Amino acid sequence: GAPVNADISKLQSGQMLTVEWRGKPVWIVRRTPEMLAGLPALDGDLRDPASNESDQPAYCQNATRAVKEEYLVVVGVCTHLGCAPLYRPAIGSPDVSADWQGGFFCPCHGSRFDLAGRVFKSVPAPTNLEIPPYHFINDSIVRIG
Ligand code: FES
Repeated sequence: GAPVNADISKLQSGQMLTVEWRGKPVWIVRRTPEMLAGLPALDGDLRDPASNESDQPAYCQNATRAVKEEYLVVVGVCTHLGCAPLYRPAIGSPDVSADWQGGFFCPCHGSRFDLAGRVFKSVPAPTNLEIPPYHFINDSIVRIG
């Protein structure tokens, strides 16, 4: 499939936008400093915190699973059976409990992912959400694929 460009110039901190790439949704989340600060604390609750068993380009196998840490770019397809998880970014969002700081919730069988797309233990999804190949054309445009 052809690469697609996503315009992130209007994306506010904490918001997510969706673009379609190869027939799949790709989410771009502009993470807040608070969201980023919360990620390391979750490592012990995650199945694959360092993403050793998960799909991402080598340049995104890092603590934030990103090229620029502020922007998460991730395929919005649950790694269990392919349902569409929901963006549940914060405590107070539906489905988010106090022991989870929010991220993505799959309504099909209850898998939970953090704000780097990393899967929690004790849910059916086996691996973290996939990170597609991407790069920044400039500060406003991300090219996926
Ligand atoms: Fe997402 Fe089963 S498809 S938890």
